[in-house]
Amino acid sequence: MSTVSSLPTISSESLFEGRKKITTRSIKQKKDRGEPITMLTAYDYPTALIMDRSGIDSILVGDSLGMVVLGYENTLPVTMEEMLHHCRAVARGAQYALLVGDMPFMSYQVSIEEAVRNAGRFLQEGGMDAIKLEGGSERVDAVRAIVGAGIPVMGHLGLTPQSVHQLGGFRAQGKTAVAAKRLYEDAHLLQEAGCFSLVLESVPERLAELISNKLDIPTIGIGAGSGCDGQVLVTHDLLGLFDRFTPKFVRKYADLYNEMDRAFHEYMVDVESGSFPASEHTVEMPEDEWVELLDEIGK
Ligand code: KIV
Repeated sequence: MSTVSSLPTISSESLFEGRKKITTRSIKQKKDRGEPITMLTAYDYPTALIMDRSGIDSILVGDSLGMVVLGYENTLPVTMEEMLHHCRAVARGAQYALLVGDMPFMSYQVSIEEAVRNAGRFLQEGGMDAIKLEGGSERVDAVRAIVGAGIPVMGHLGLTPQSVHQLGGFRAQGKTAVAAKRLYEDAHLLQEAGCFSLVLESVPERLAELISNKLDIPTIGIGAGSGCDGQVLVTHDLLGLFDRFTPKFVRKYADLYNEMDRAFHEYMVDVESGSFPASEHTVEMPEDEWVELLDEIGK
């Protein structure tokens, strides 16, 4: 028998009383107080709603949606229009979390002007509070210009998936002294250019910790160990919903792939056996109306 449940009523309004919108300032204050910052990705309304109600600090509408939602091989095909479509859905679901929209490949690399215009679209059309972009010294001018337009920027160093071909695959970064020094310097350049925060992806734990201790802005780690000021994961990995692979640094908190598979099979069995829909799922018609109908059609 299937158990179909609607979204649980998590809250009464009182649960959110006194709760304030998280801003770039509040996550900096969390770093200063030594409190870990929590961030997850979301790409749709119900996920954003549940996440926001759970009290997450920040939601990233990551271009990872290209892989985990749209089924692309990597993040490179993702367009501005696709990103904005998902940003709007997330913005409709989340009231409190700091919302960060991920700039897709080729939306900020061609010219500074295009970078600023596209960054602005995330706030104007996507309902985001900030944007994220990948890269170090080569992106400093774009970061400065976007910040200059009043748009908060989150940097992203280490394994930067939009450079997957240049990096020779999805592989950890900063493992040699030379590479680690470049990463360390890039982190400082991004901070100086005005980034309010920095994602460190797939870098050695002690390097991430060193950078986090040296920077004033909060670092958010993914596969970068526990020394960062906060953590982010791709939600489909955490929920066990991405079929292709699970990175080593992911802890799975649910097994939704198998749970959905079970639910779909039970539904099919119920329909095929005639046990769904049952009487409680059907609409009644008053007897006199029914008799009148049969009369009308001459049955
Ligand atoms: O696109 C994304 O989800 C990201 C996170 C992995 C940080 O960039």
